[in-house]
Amino acid sequence: MNKIFAFFVQLLLVDFSLCKCSTTNLNERFYPYFHLAPPFGWMNDPNGFCIFKNEFHLFYQYNPLTSQEPGIAHWGHAKSSDLFHWEHLDIAMYPDKDYDNTGVFSGSAIIVKDTMKLLYTGNVNKQGEIRQRQALVSSSDGLKFVKYSENPVIMANEYQPNIRDPKVWQHGDTFYMVLGNSFKNDTLGRVLLFSSKDLISWKEAPILGESDGFFGYMWECPDFFELDGKFVLLFSPQGVTPQGDQYKNLYQTGYIIGDFDYNSQVFTPLTEFKELDHGHDFYATQSILDHQNRRIFVAWFSMWEQVYPERNDGWSGQMTIPRVLHLTSTYELIQKPVSEISSIRNGLLYSGTASAGTRIKLTDNIGEIEITAPEHKDFNVIFEAGNTTVTIKYDNKNGKISLDRGGNDGVRRTDWKPLGKLKMHIFVDRSSIEVFCGDGEVTFSSRFFPYAEVNVKLGENSNAENMLVYHLKRTIFTP
Ligand code: FRU
Repeated sequence: MNKIFAFFVQLLLVDFSLCKCSTTNLNERFYPYFHLAPPFGWMNDPNGFCIFKNEFHLFYQYNPLTSQEPGIAHWGHAKSSDLFHWEHLDIAMYPDKDYDNTGVFSGSAIIVKDTMKLLYTGNVNKQGEIRQRQALVSSSDGLKFVKYSENPVIMANEYQPNIRDPKVWQHGDTFYMVLGNSFKNDTLGRVLLFSSKDLISWKEAPILGESDGFFGYMWECPDFFELDGKFVLLFSPQGVTPQGDQYKNLYQTGYIIGDFDYNSQVFTPLTEFKELDHGHDFYATQSILDHQNRRIFVAWFSMWEQVYPERNDGWSGQMTIPRVLHLTSTYELIQKPVSEISSIRNGLLYSGTASAGTRIKLTDNIGEIEITAPEHKDFNVIFEAGNTTVTIKYDNKNGKISLDRGGNDGVRRTDWKPLGKLKMHIFVDRSSIEVFCGDGEVTFSSRFFPYAEVNVKLGENSNAENMLVYHLKRTIFTP
């Protein structure tokens, strides 16, 4: 009897895997080798980033049906022990409740007594219904997720229709949550703060920060944490007007540094808003504190309303390399790729001094490049692939660094004065480039789509005192 049962189970499994194959017909021409991307379909924001039973879990906004559009959001799920080798897991959450049937929107995780708790926004797009409510979920094994039977835990009628993206943390015996919100008839963005003793019943605290009119109509994906003695309010405002070289993407991600007093729950800003990254494709960050006390974050390595060719390849969207944050004494965030990246190096393609014009082919269109060059001199690095080029240019006289990927709206530029030697640390992964300048005080994250082999070339008069080029291992696989 048992054998017969097992046989039918086998049959079901075979059938299931067959139907999975037919939907996962990916074209891998632009698919990343070491950045987490969906196994099939659409990915946006990172969600529920956490460490559970000694493994990193990362969820994401996911449309399993098509890579052409966000559709109705689910939570995709992957886990890793080193932040680079990711294993794709089953979909963690479906839009299957009356309070989330138009999308299991973004949210975060917190581990309480060996249980993974997720808080997310249930979205309902139906006239006459409350649009966005916050819901609680539990998992004891990190694989199966049970939505709390009394959901939603925050209704917040007075804050509708845009109140979303809960980021939760614990301080002492209290849980805190920041939420993105818009007010004054959706014309101004802000971040709300709530507190709770049990993750179920939530109390409002003073508003953490709000737009004065210039800073957008909605603040998405807020995050709030202590870093090197100060507090960082990190968020993604929509509706910020471009100003010269600043705020040139459709939406921004940036931060305000300040002081926070847990007794009064008041945040006192010490700085203006500053963009976190200067590339074209960087949004909706989420951070965690790991067991070594590192503040690590990832961002969605895309931007809304960009139509990239990968959409026709069966997948869309990816995450940035996980990065560690630090605060300088002048209250600026610096970013570095997590040190685990060195464990996926896979041979050195070049090492030593390199004169202007040096050209190195990046095997598989992936590579890590470290450059040190003399101070106070212009410097250009060019990534060439047939007709496609990405040029990184340091302009010493004006103290500017730029990335130009060509085409419409190709240039991103910002102020930068290297402290000492000019240093750049660059990662290329099939259809993306991440540039860390100096000690990580300026970064660019941009997508580009090479239709030929990618070569890295030092530009005119650009002599490097040292250049290292590594190949990297492939750590992300499609099913
Ligand atoms: C940010 C965002 C979030 C929302 C999610 C929906 O990119 O708009 O505010 O929860 O995406 O997918």
